[in-house]
Amino acid sequence: METIVEKLSGKKDKEILQQAAKIIKRGGLVAFPTETVYGLGADGLKEEAAKKIYAAKGRPSDNPLILHIAERSQLEQIVKRIPQKAERLMEAFWPGPLTIIFEKSENVPYTTTGGLDTVAVRMPNHAEALAFLKEVQTPVAAPSANTSGRPSPTKAEHVLEDMQGKIEMILDGGEVGIGIESTIIDITSAIPMILRPGFVTQEMLEEVIGKVMIDPAVQGGVKEKERPKAPGMKYRHYAPKADLTIVEGKLSKVILKINELAAQKVSEEKKVGIIATEETKKFYKNGLVKVIGTRMEEKTIAKHLYGILREFDEAEVDIIFSEAFSEKDFGQAIMNRLEKAAAHHKIHA
Ligand code: TXA
Ligand code: MG
Repeated sequence: METIVEKLSGKKDKEILQQAAKIIKRGGLVAFPTETVYGLGADGLKEEAAKKIYAAKGRPSDNPLILHIAERSQLEQIVKRIPQKAERLMEAFWPGPLTIIFEKSENVPYTTTGGLDTVAVRMPNHAEALAFLKEVQTPVAAPSANTSGRPSPTKAEHVLEDMQGKIEMILDGGEVGIGIESTIIDITSAIPMILRPGFVTQEMLEEVIGKVMIDPAVQGGVKEKERPKAPGMKYRHYAPKADLTIVEGKLSKVILKINELAAQKVSEEKKVGIIATEETKKFYKNGLVKVIGTRMEEKTIAKHLYGILREFDEAEVDIIFSEAFSEKDFGQAIMNRLEKAAAHHKIHA
């Protein structure tokens, strides 16, 4: 199969989006940009179409997909009921980077939900994504458009790297805005629970619906016994090919420690990568140093995290050292992804 890449720029978008929608309606696969990461879309209500997503990604079939919608009216056909708390969350955060778990209706096949009786739904805050979803009409199932286990794609080029020859079309909307996946909240339990941290933080959610818990599996690291409620959180995700170690502690000590470890690895003839920030890059003496963003603005760090992991793959480094970042607010989501990429390998400087 030849994968067509279509650049979205305004002028011919309508035509391109119509063509993309046709592919989905025929049961094919189209990758599209959202404000978080690129998604790999298929008709979420057709079992055969959803199956193709698992095949293209090499994704375990017990890992459910998120249904993407463009209009509130599309929700009624896919969920059993809409709780009050969900109403308030949608009012506050949709369209936006918040995925809500509902009880599913009969219209949603178990292939889409990985066998669960619940369904994850999101309305992305991205003009082209919304235009595409409107054109398709039916809810579009879309996981991140990466090969299972690789970092999520934040640019169309990343999607092409992983999906060339496996999907019909990639809609290229340039680099995404946020860079890490949506927050997932389950409101089917008595106290709503965050299953995956993201741009919408616990504090932001609590302002709207009161007490919200965080699935203990999110923070504790993913041990076999601790079954996360979002099945996808149990897999080693977002991983670069090289071993990644996070160094935490006082920043001046972190820099010293990374320099020491990097020098040692270089002397062993290993190719070393370092994840630094605007503020710290000048202090590193060894290895391939890449700036992830600035500590003054954590958004810049989120936006470049996955791209940098892919760049290190391309540079074929053997080992990567990363500074740790603040875990406050949005930082919790950033560190959650970085720690998963590091398979929870963290040392104190
Ligand atoms: O930002 C995002 O959410 C992106 C863009 C493309 O929208 N999508 C995304 O999808 O990150 P994916 O498939 O990579 O991650 C979906 C996560 C998985 O961890 C999955 O286990 C969880 O959502 N999930 C989906 N349905 C669920 C359900 N019914 N109950 C619990 N977890 C669910
Ligand atoms: Mg994913």
